[in-house]
Order: sequence, then structure tokens, then C-alpha cells
Amino acid sequence: MNKDIVCVGAGYIGGPTMAVIAKMNPSRRVWVVDINKERIDAWNSDNLPIYEPGLDEVVREVRGKNLFFTTDIEGCIKKCDIVFVGVNTPTKMFGRGAGRASDLQFWEATARNIAKWAESDKIVVEKSTLPVRTAAAMSAILNTHESLKFTVLSNPEFLAEGTAIKDLLSPDRVLIGGPADEAGKRAVDEIVDIYAGESDCWVPREKILTTNVWSAELTKLAANAMLAQRVSSVNALSQLCEATGADIGEVARVMGADTRIGSKFLKAGPGFGGSCFKKDVLNLVYLCETFGLKDAALYWNQVIAMNDSQQRRIVERLFHALFNTIANKKIAVFGFAFKADTGDTRETPSGAVVRMLHEEHARLAITDPKALPNAKKDLADIMDGSIELVEDPYEAAKDADAVLVMTDWKQYPALDWSNIYASMRKPALVFDARNCLAAEELRKIGFKTLNIGK
Ligand code: NAD
Ligand code: UGA
Repeated sequence: MNKDIVCVGAGYIGGPTMAVIAKMNPSRRVWVVDINKERIDAWNSDNLPIYEPGLDEVVREVRGKNLFFTTDIEGCIKKCDIVFVGVNTPTKMFGRGAGRASDLQFWEATARNIAKWAESDKIVVEKSTLPVRTAAAMSAILNTHESLKFTVLSNPEFLAEGTAIKDLLSPDRVLIGGPADEAGKRAVDEIVDIYAGESDCWVPREKILTTNVWSAELTKLAANAMLAQRVSSVNALSQLCEATGADIGEVARVMGADTRIGSKFLKAGPGFGGSCFKKDVLNLVYLCETFGLKDAALYWNQVIAMNDSQQRRIVERLFHALFNTIANKKIAVFGFAFKADTGDTRETPSGAVVRMLHEEHARLAITDPKALPNAKKDLADIMDGSIELVEDPYEAAKDADAVLVMTDWKQYPALDWSNIYASMRKPALVFDARNCLAAEELRKIGFKTLNIGK
């Protein structure tokens, strides 16, 4: 078995993960392959296809030395004995489980390609997030091969966008799930070695946790569901704060001081976005339904319902603050990315809110330091002249009735808000849906203000 690695799927997971694996394992050759030539060309250019702090530096360090991006999937599967699969697993939009189950067609196509092109035994590593027991299906497809042996492991990824490189370089833990037989144990050891890095320079061995395959697959869904659940819980409390005069910032700070609760993921806001939380919670709901666990399914489904409610509530509160009519009023939306430090707009709360405001016939000026190209694609169907995408936040706010802050970019608190106030229609409103601005200072300038959970 050789030490070369290929990752199928050059997306938000495949690119950064393999770049760091290559950096920490200089004597291994690492290939990242994709069917999307445009994406591969971008990985080979100075303009990488995704924005992630620190990513450019790592890619520059290893690309062309031991990290290669290519569309030659067949050639790479032939030459590498370790195959990571990081293709997309979106929510299925048709047939059985539509709207909840994972669409595994890209995964299955990859498994069939591996079986078709392999000329030696392989370790196949699930990097994508998958429903529990997918490895069994993959093993069944792969092991139809007459003479070769494929061992399927689960190695879900826990990095968050915006901090991907930091998370990869010093993860809380790495999880590797494998079969209990001898081949399974040997395969797990191979992958443990990759994460330990050469001369044990990377993840400390005690942070590399091994489990059986089903536990690893479920843990990934469970971890995302628990994080999403915390966001929905704090947002549910924020609605009660708004009704009672309590302050969610204070409530979260004191709750979080209890070490059993912990302080992270207690920030109220416009609800969670990103490509994974909603998809993975829905997947969990579907799994519960499939196994007849109706109450468990209802419980997890409520995490999504609460998230939707939080976004509707932002529009309702804005509507009331603007004297119950938004038609023809200009609203400057600050931030379109689903969180700061990324250009990713998949499932972004800003997108949902923009669509609701558009239905109310608002005029919208959307600004974002990284996400405008994606905003242009996402909103193509409603770009009817009432929506403009504006690089400069000052320009976006000019003549607006309200500024709505949807992403907590660190640039926004540093803006000259007196200048913004002077250029807006009066009374001028700031709705800070991320609670990232100094509300008292804004009120001193003359703004009316709204926040989440206050
Ligand atoms: P992505 O859409 O950015 O990238 C997936 C890539 O796979 C695409 O470039 C696509 O062209 C490619 N692909 C699809 N079918 C292919 C095939 N048959 N052969 C070769 N390439 C193929 O998706 P992503 O955000 O990187 O997510 C991938 C997986 O990782 C998902 O299961 C996701 O849940 C999981 N994940 C993502 C994150 C994240 O931060 N984005 C974090 C943890 C886990
Ligand atoms: C999340 C998980 O944190 C990662 O561990 C996981 O690997 C990844 O999903 C995945 O599977 O894709 P990500 O979605 O990139 O990472 O970003 P998060 O930092 O988790 O934020 C998700 C959403 O929750 C964002 O919209 C963020 O603004 C929101 N959020 C987060 C809050 O509203 N409040 C918080 O306190 C924390």
C-alpha cells in the first residue's frame, strides 16, 4: 500500500483539509480532484475559489510541491491507495425523503468510479457528512470488485468556515471510525498516522479519537445538531428577552459562566446559516423518522422551526419600526455572508430576510466585503431593479430609511456612523441583528436602534 492520498471533491472541505494534510505530511503526495474544471483552475490560480483566512499562505507553501489540483480523477484513483471523499451531500429535493434526507448521488457516483478505476486495494475515507450506515452501502458497492479489497472508514470534518485553517491546524479532536476486524484496524492506523503528521508534528495522539464506523457517522450529525440546537435555544430566549425587558447578552453571559453550560455558541442573532446545520439536522430528523422515533424527529425539527421564526421576526420588527410599511423604503443590508470571514452564502439568514423584504416591495442595497459575487448568483431570480449590490457600505446607506446588520463583519463597528447618519433619511434606524455595534453610541448620534434580545 502506498502513502499517496487523493481527495475527491475540491470544495470548502476538500481544498483546505488536503492543503493542511499536505503541509503536515511533506513526504506524502496529495491530489485534490473534481469534476468541476473551473473550480480546479481556480485552485491552481492566484484567485482561490473560496475565501478563508490563512488558506492562501498554506496553498502557496505546498501547491506544486506535494499538493496538486487536477480533474484527472481516474489517474489519481489509480495511483493513490488512500482515497478521501469530500463531495457534496445536499438535502434531497425529490422522491422519498425529499426536503430531509441526504442526496447521496454524488457519493455513490464516486464510489462506483473508485470501483471502476482501482487497480490496487484502497482505504476509502468518508470525509463528507453522511447518514449513519452509509459506509455499509459504500462497502457493498466497492466490494463488488472481484479481486480488490476496499476498507471504508468514516473521518468526518469538524472545521468551521472562517476559521478553517486554525481549526485544521489545532483541532479539538479528530474522529476516525473503522471496522473492528484486522483490515479495519490497520486502515484506522494509517489514517491516524496522517493526522499525527510527520515526526508527530500535528494532532496530539490523545486528540485522535477512534470509534466504530456508525458512531463516527452519527457523531458528526449529532455534533452539528447540538450546536444548531444551542443557537435555536438562545434565539428562543432572545424573543422572550425582547418581550420582558431582559437582555440576552447578560442572560447568555451568566448562563455561560456555568462550566456545565459553557460560554460558546450562545450568541443570539438572525439564526444559523451555512451549508450544513440545516441539512444535517434535517438528515437527523429523517433518520429518526425512518427508525420510527417520532418524538425525537419532532424535537430536532423544532430546531429548524425556531431558526425560521427568528428570521421572520426580524422582518416583523423592522416592519413595525418603519411605521408598518416598507414598500419603496430603502433598506441597506450590511452583510450577506452567513457569518463573518467567509464569502459563503449557502442558507445565509441574510438571503432569507432579503427575500421577505423584497416581497414587501422594499428597495434594497446589499453590501458585503466578500459575498457579493455569491449574492448576485443567489438573488438572480429577484434582481428586478429594486435590489442593488454595493461594495461601499457608505454608498449602500445613502438615503436609506434603515440599516440592517446581518453579518458581524469586524469592519462594521469601525465605520463612521455619524457620517452614515448624516446621509440617511430621517428618522434613521439601525437594526443590529448581530448585536455587534455600540447601540448607546448610535443613539447618541440620533439613530433609532433595534437589537436582538434586548
Ligand atoms: P462543496 O459543494 O463546496 O464541494 C463539493 C465538491 O465535490 C464540488 O466541487 C463538486 O464539484 C465535487 N463533486 C461532486 N461530485 C463529484 C464527483 N462525482 N467526482 C468529483 N468531484 C465531485 O461542498 P463542501 O462544503 O466542501 O462539503 C462537502 C461535504 O463536507 C458535505 O458532506 C458537507 O456536509 C461536509 N462538511 C462541510 C463543511 C464546510 O465547512 N463546508 C464542514 C464539515 C463537513
Ligand atoms: C459548523 C460547525 O461549527 C462545524 O464544526 C462543522 O464542521 C460545520 O458546521 C459543518 O459541518 O459544515 P460553520 O457552519 O462553518 O460550522 O460555522 P459556525 O461557526 O458553526 O456557524 C454556523 C452558524 O451559526 C452561522 O450562521 C453563525 O453566525 C451562527 N451562530 C453561531 C450563531 O448565530 N450564534 C452562535 O453563538 C454561533
